[in-house]
Amino acid sequence: MKRFIEHEELARDSRFIRGNNAQATVLASLPDDVDAVVKAIDPMAQLIEEGVRGTAAEPLFEAYGPAFIITVLNEPLDPEAPAAGIRLLFRMHGIFVGELQALEGAARSLWDFPDAPWEFKMNMARQCWDEGRHVQIFEKLLIHLGGEVGMFPENTFLFECACSDDPAMRVAGVNRGLEGLACDVFRDMIRYAQKTGDTVMEQAVDYVLADEITHVRFGSEWVKEFTKDNPDYLERTQNFRREVDKQFNFGGARSDRPDSAIQIAIEDRLEAGFDMDEINEISSLSSAGPKKETLRQAAAILKELHDARKSNQNKEVTQ
Ligand SMILES: [Fe+2]
Ligand SMILES: [Fe+2]
Repeated sequence: MKRFIEHEELARDSRFIRGNNAQATVLASLPDDVDAVVKAIDPMAQLIEEGVRGTAAEPLFEAYGPAFIITVLNEPLDPEAPAAGIRLLFRMHGIFVGELQALEGAARSLWDFPDAPWEFKMNMARQCWDEGRHVQIFEKLLIHLGGEVGMFPENTFLFECACSDDPAMRVAGVNRGLEGLACDVFRDMIRYAQKTGDTVMEQAVDYVLADEITHVRFGSEWVKEFTKDNPDYLERTQNFRREVDKQFNFGGARSDRPDSAIQIAIEDRLEAGFDMDEINEISSLSSAGPKKETLRQAAAILKELHDARKSNQNKEVTQ
């Protein structure tokens, strides 16, 4: 079996639609400037529209325009917001495919590094077992909320960003970057479930979160072990995790701002082996992204530009 596969090689059955990772990469580098955000997203408007056509994300596109990803990701889940039910399913489907990729990331860590210590392999095997259960739990939650597998395109950028070919960077990316993000998102889902009185979702996600803290702890411990006696290697590994965390902030969607869509789960991260300096660093990385008002204004302009192009195209067709 091949070692070190690319994200394009992840196997999926015919239910799944593969999304485009370029949008996620653009999101990570957006500055806090309306014009710059418009300039970055507008050339992708057609690509974004093609990507959602025929999927359950079409109503989101209709409601929020081509910038729906930045708007939807950056607004906290709100049962009263436009297309609220679809937005919840969009988040839940994203978590479901994230669990699939976490399973694949852990399984690849087990396979890609044959010379790693036995205890490392046992930890990765344990994680695979957990992630397999998580995939099933989120599939059931998706159905519980009225959704289904494959209803939205799958973006494989979590796997793409986190899976370095170096063992210390792999666990830094997957176990501290990706699994740390899972802690933030799941704490948010528990809060949402408490708000809407959905005890099934609240309990199921709480159960999964307990496992994720263990997975982050695996990362915290193995980064230390792989880089012991080598401060340069540790520094390079930390730099890699910073890059991954920057990508996973989704242009400020995850941050410590009071109105952010996803808060940083400080207590859970401390329990999982992050120290306060690292948590503060994740906060400051995310604060560098665009403010919510910047994104709202940019989204409105992007929708106008898109609508104007569409009405011009329609005129040309009817002439
Ligand atoms: Fe998981
Ligand atoms: Fe996990």
